[in-house]
Amino acid sequence: MRIAMIGTGYVGLVSGACFADFGHHVTCVDMDATKIAALQRNEIPIYEPGLDRLVETNARQARLDFTTDLKRSVIEADAVFIAVGTPSRRGDGHADLSYVHAAAREIAGALAGFTVVVTKSTVPVGTSDDVERIIQEARPEAEFAVVSNPEFLREGAAIQDFKHPDRIVIGTDDPRARQVMAELYRPLYLNQAPILYTGRRTAELIKYAANAFLATKITFINEIADLCEQLGADVQEVARGIGLDNRIGSKFLHAGPGFGGSCLPKDILALVKTAQDQATPLRVVEAVAAVNDARKRAMARKVAAAVGNLRGKTIAILGLTFKPNTDDMREAPSVPLVTALQDFGARVRAYDPVGIEQARSVLQNVTFCDGPYACAEGAHAVVIVTEWEQFRALDLDRLKAVMAAPVVIDLRNIYRPEEMVGRGFIYESVGRSMNKS
Ligand SMILES: NC(=O)c1ccc[n+]([C@@H]2O[C@H](COP(=O)([O-])OP(=O)(O)OC[C@H]3O[C@@H](n4cnc5c(N)ncnc54)[C@H](O)[C@@H]3O)[C@@H](O)[C@H]2O)c1
Repeated sequence: MRIAMIGTGYVGLVSGACFADFGHHVTCVDMDATKIAALQRNEIPIYEPGLDRLVETNARQARLDFTTDLKRSVIEADAVFIAVGTPSRRGDGHADLSYVHAAAREIAGALAGFTVVVTKSTVPVGTSDDVERIIQEARPEAEFAVVSNPEFLREGAAIQDFKHPDRIVIGTDDPRARQVMAELYRPLYLNQAPILYTGRRTAELIKYAANAFLATKITFINEIADLCEQLGADVQEVARGIGLDNRIGSKFLHAGPGFGGSCLPKDILALVKTAQDQATPLRVVEAVAAVNDARKRAMARKVAAAVGNLRGKTIAILGLTFKPNTDDMREAPSVPLVTALQDFGARVRAYDPVGIEQARSVLQNVTFCDGPYACAEGAHAVVIVTEWEQFRALDLDRLKAVMAAPVVIDLRNIYRPEEMVGRGFIYESVGRSMNKS
């Protein structure tokens, strides 16, 4: 089958490369000519493990190409995926659908023969109806069907997630579209990935409900962590103790600095707004958003509590991206943390294995360093913000030797408190207290 993937970002590029790897012919389209030129030179504009090889192999075998020419790619396509961004709208927090609507208008102008138009972007309920209406108004004679097919991949494990999904959700009532979608995903069906056929609006809501639930789990364990600190309990043992219950499950129960990233914060906000508009407020989700927001600056107070007055002190941040194995800085907890530390008067040094280039555009007055030890030099505290593998086995003696004071605040609980204290550190983590039993 021939696919046009509109939007070649984290989702479009990974989905496009994976569909090509299944044997389909995929043209990835983007309006960002620099991005497309880079991809045509075989340069990958984002960091995602394994993506460079996947793109290179499929491009070499002529199943994957890149263009800014939306029209030509749509004319030839059996299925056109909309994978453009849906950021928070400035001012009110609703999803900004301007990119989706613009893509729909452009697609309408190019449709030729029966084509399935697929909304893969995360969009509020009713957006696929909008896409259908936009196309119908522009081209009343066009033969097409609009399908909702939300994406659940996680950055950092995106290829694995796309190729081995927990489920594929396909929202359509159109039998022809259903057939095309089944053919596109046939390789996964053969791997027995469950495919859920639903109504279009239901598919759209499944994506938001999934993200809201995951955000709720994280926020729940973060609040339990705060309580653990007050009560002398260990949040990791609590998480294990509840997570082993199959009804709860152990995933997304890691206490930390609060969730960030390109999806959860904006999607939670958009869902809250949708629900308010329907006079059916989602109180739990509203609380999740508020608690998570407050948590990020609270992490700076945690640093201040360990270090004392931060004015004139140097703080070393290890890890800037919102999670490991990505260069994505969107809504990373490191950003409000760094800002709050600077507000307290601290000087901030920072190191991240791949995120520094992206971080430069969102963080001001930060000294970026080449590695964790260079970053820790002269620091009054090291704060572990992102749990990159390379931070899990630091040479602790070397670290202590270069620091001005041996203070480590581990916001990801990757070290054991007893060990750190045994090595002579003042050590703080999340939801684990040493001195109570
Ligand atoms: N990033 C994730 O982990 C993830 C996971 C699941 C779902 N999603 C959803 O997928 C969607 C895309 O997210 P992303 O992270 O890939 O975004 P992104 O910002 O990385 O990529 C979007 C791309 O679309 C391009 N674009 C915008 N309008 C266009 C147009 N009219 N024609 C051609 N190109 C256009 C932009 O130039 C950009 O390169 C969002 O709705 C997001 O919520 C993201």
